[in-house]
Amino acid sequence: MSILLLDQNTINKIAAGEVVERPASVIKELVENAIDAKADAITIEVKEGGLKFIRITDNGFGIHKEDVKAAFLRHSTSKIKNEEDLTSIMSLGFRGEALASIASVGRVELITKQEAEPVGIRYVIEGGVEKVLEEVGCPIGTTFIVKDLFYNTPARRKFMKTAGTELGYISDLIHKMALGHPEVSFKFINDGKIKLQTTGKNKLKDCIFSVYGMEVAKNLIEINWSFEGMRIEGFIGKPHLNRGNRTYENYFLNGRYIKSKVIEKAIEDGYKSKLMLHQYPFVTFHLHVDGKDVDVNVHPTKMEVRFMEEAKVFQLVYKGIESALNREALIPQVSLEKDKKETPMVYEPIPEPFEEKRKVIEQNNRVMPLFIHDAPPIDLKIETFSEEKQEENYIEKLEKKPVDEPLETPIETPIDTPKRTYKGDQVAMSVEAFRGSSAIRSHKVVGQLFDTYWIVELENEYYMVDQHAAHEKVLYERMVKKLRDKVEFAQRLLEPVVVNLSLQEMSRYEIHERLFIDLGFEVEPFGEEALIIRSVPFVFGKTLDANQFLLILDGLADSFIEDKYDILLDDIASMACKAAVKGNDRLSKGEYIQLIDDLLTLENPFHCPHGRPTIIAMTKYELEKKFKRIQG
Ligand SMILES: Nc1ncnc2c1ncn2[C@@H]1O[C@H](COP(=O)(O)OP(=O)(O)OP(=O)(O)O)[C@@H](O)[C@H]1O
Ligand SMILES: [Mg+2]
Repeated sequence: MSILLLDQNTINKIAAGEVVERPASVIKELVENAIDAKADAITIEVKEGGLKFIRITDNGFGIHKEDVKAAFLRHSTSKIKNEEDLTSIMSLGFRGEALASIASVGRVELITKQEAEPVGIRYVIEGGVEKVLEEVGCPIGTTFIVKDLFYNTPARRKFMKTAGTELGYISDLIHKMALGHPEVSFKFINDGKIKLQTTGKNKLKDCIFSVYGMEVAKNLIEINWSFEGMRIEGFIGKPHLNRGNRTYENYFLNGRYIKSKVIEKAIEDGYKSKLMLHQYPFVTFHLHVDGKDVDVNVHPTKMEVRFMEEAKVFQLVYKGIESALNREALIPQVSLEKDKKETPMVYEPIPEPFEEKRKVIEQNNRVMPLFIHDAPPIDLKIETFSEEKQEENYIEKLEKKPVDEPLETPIETPIDTPKRTYKGDQVAMSVEAFRGSSAIRSHKVVGQLFDTYWIVELENEYYMVDQHAAHEKVLYERMVKKLRDKVEFAQRLLEPVVVNLSLQEMSRYEIHERLFIDLGFEVEPFGEEALIIRSVPFVFGKTLDANQFLLILDGLADSFIEDKYDILLDDIASMACKAAVKGNDRLSKGEYIQLIDDLLTLENPFHCPHGRPTIIAMTKYELEKKFKRIQG
């Protein structure tokens, strides 16, 4: 068989496989191009899951008529000029292959005009073959229409799932794009119906509200942190917003949605003491990192990136999240009444892609978008999330919402009312309210319920303290402190423990040997693949099993974590206190008074080391309302 050089069209089709996997990938590429063209309004329309029809309209700066053909050539781009530019990319595209790929597997029509040109250009290219190039009258900006995707690659077409599944991928993608670019007004129309609309007012919280709804938008904590010239900003969910997988962890690097193990780990470590195992938080934040400190040229879809200094990125995210969470002391407050008033919704008009930017937003009427001949009349007023009460045009739409939503923190009411459950809500409490020496002086332990929950009265609030969680928390904090201060140091084991290790584990131990010694371990090699442990940090008492040691060693597996000592210390303390605490123990008066006093003086008394709340708060006001002593 002789070796042949493939023709350009075949090369394009092969390469298209990398960039254009499914309709959502076409949309990703075209929307990224629109953003790179500085559009601030982008409309995306699809039919039949994008397989039949995709139209993307933007109000960006358009393509010059002389460049239209070249834009569809492989490796042609206006975004970088040379190799050097590759090291500081701030645009979303730079490979110059998206349009070539899309045009090789679909029927593409492009209409575009730049501001300085009197007329625009219409260009049709199907399966990589040019069909039409003509002048047309059109507004400034660009419209791409892609029909019959994969019509000439039946093998790929066969792999496509149903329109419904493809639509799922598309919505997910557009949600991420909208969250990544709050400065752009996105409109997504599927089969003639508006699915998403964002304001483009550069308010991330509004975007989160448009995508995830009120429940999420109401339970956010702002995050804003800088470290070594990098910045993180956005919102993270209060811990109770957690999910069972990572779908709600959204983060953007210079406007690009990415996935990163370092960031994943930093997020989850940041929430470590607040969430249980296999619970993942809600986060949506932006990272601003200088283009030269990151390599985005790792994969054709550009979702993977390589940071020059992973440890610093880890610190930025970890510390940012930790400080945001600590700022808000999270005591779940239990309301005995359902909230009557919710945050008002604000309805505001938003612009269309071809409107003159931002200014010509008409106050009251409807505007039919250009090029969307078959879409129904569209009401341009959309919802935004607002915390301030707006005088004129808000509608208390939420009153119409069913109030009997599922309950997150079911609790039982006092004995004399029938059993009911109530909706728990996390409120930010002043850290000082239930902490510190003045709290110790003025609180009163009223009694205990079900051998588990202490009722504590403090000014106009009363608190329920879970004895088991409180005990664990106090013990844990005490252990961390002692370990850190090296108050009590090593304990000799009654019987030395032999731990068999893999070679990899062995070398991990060797790397971190110093930390183990510092914490009170006395360990010797025991042949090639085993260690013998003679002493352990005092917190283990006189026993330690091999599995515990392995778990501690596993915690050190990630190469990018700088603060290994803290992690080790954390693991040891939480492991030891788990072993030490038992539930439902009856405490003597002296013991429980001491326990609650100890809890009150902790830095963060509100969650046990495994993320469960230790304290829930209720107000006297709620109680008085319940007994109709006051009208509310
Ligand atoms: N909506 C648009 N508005 C203005 N110019 C555009 C638009 N879409 C594409 N272009 C121009 O066409 C060129 C080619 O686009 P293409 O997406 O193929 O490559 P790229 O964006 O440069 O790189 P990548 O392949 O990484 O996306 C761009 O560099 C840009 O100059
Ligand atoms: Mg591109």
